Amino acid sequence: MTQPLTILGIESSCDDTAAAVVRGTDVLASVVYGQTSLHAEFGGVVPEIAARAHAEKLDHCVEEAMAEAGLTFADLDGIAVTAGPGLIGGVLSGVMCAKGLSAATGLPLIGVNHLAGHALTPRLTDQLDYPYLMLLVSGGHCQFLIVEAQDRFQRIGGTIDDAPGEAFDKTARLLGLPQPGGPSVEMAARTGDPKRFALPRPLLNQQGCDMSFSGLKTAILRARDSVVLEKGGLTAQDQADLSASFQAAITDVLIEKTRRAVIAYLQLAPAKPAFAIAGGVAANQTIRGGLTTLCAGLDTDFVAPPLWLCTDNAAMIAYSGIERMTAGHRDDLTLSARPRWPLDERSAPMLGSGKKGAKA
Ligand code: KG4
Ligand code: ZN
Repeated sequence: MTQPLTILGIESSCDDTAAAVVRGTDVLASVVYGQTSLHAEFGGVVPEIAARAHAEKLDHCVEEAMAEAGLTFADLDGIAVTAGPGLIGGVLSGVMCAKGLSAATGLPLIGVNHLAGHALTPRLTDQLDYPYLMLLVSGGHCQFLIVEAQDRFQRIGGTIDDAPGEAFDKTARLLGLPQPGGPSVEMAARTGDPKRFALPRPLLNQQGCDMSFSGLKTAILRARDSVVLEKGGLTAQDQADLSASFQAAITDVLIEKTRRAVIAYLQLAPAKPAFAIAGGVAANQTIRGGLTTLCAGLDTDFVAPPLWLCTDNAAMIAYSGIERMTAGHRDDLTLSARPRWPLDERSAPMLGSGKKGAKA
């Protein structure tokens, strides 16, 4: 039997500096350094600060991952790195680090698409067979993909403007809740009334699987302003009700559009229909719960990776590197960092790029 490949993965495309070692489908080590505190006072990720922090942390992160895995570079088969899409300074930091390590050790270098990393995560966690339907839903991207192979993706819908994670982050800022917004809005929503504010469900009645979230950001701003005007400020209950109403609107849109995406996918008669989610917003329990019920009703397997593999990490990059290397793919020291890198090169580009960088 051939030994499974062992690969070091490096991720630095947004605001997490990460390194991981994966052997086959075993995550031997995964280290993630978030940058939330560095960007907190700016209300969003500042690309220059992110790039500098990645450059400072990467070596340390790689050392820690190697130590945690208990391996030396001689035990590795290759080095995989996110080569895009993302904030270019950060992507460059990772690519330069990986090139340095590859040049020094002679190990093969493999450039990985960050979105492919998310999209292949259900194969790392659940050994899901190709093809499967996937919803990538994060701070910078939101799209339905039919994943056919490690390098073959068909996009059947997505956001035409902002990503849901961006809307969660903006909502948190408007309500005075901490960043990242997703977890804090989800927490506040637990004690809130989702029916108190009637927020729009954009594009819900329009055919297809495309989505829009920018109008929802404006609607939550108006709802907040009306409460502030009336009472002179927001109580904790107002924060909870606004959070719950916002989360309910996002959930309704994602569930309805997923229903349509699954039905469209089922028409292709897949042998073992499966739907998977990934990306930071996939950590949301209300959204996960809604999708679980939906898939049960449609006789479709639902795969939701554990939360630490839904948000940005390097294990998904190492795993994608394993799949790429197995398929015979290699890069060399000419590998370049790409701010944009659509997964489905055949589809027309989506509008908008999101505050966290051009991802879709
Ligand atoms: O995949 P990710 O770590 O980074 C990107 O590639 O964007 O996703 C981060 C995004 C942030 O916008 C964050 O607010 C959102 O995912 N997020 C959540 C939750 N946890 C993280 N959104 C909703 N509910 C959550 N529990
Ligand atoms: Zn991501």
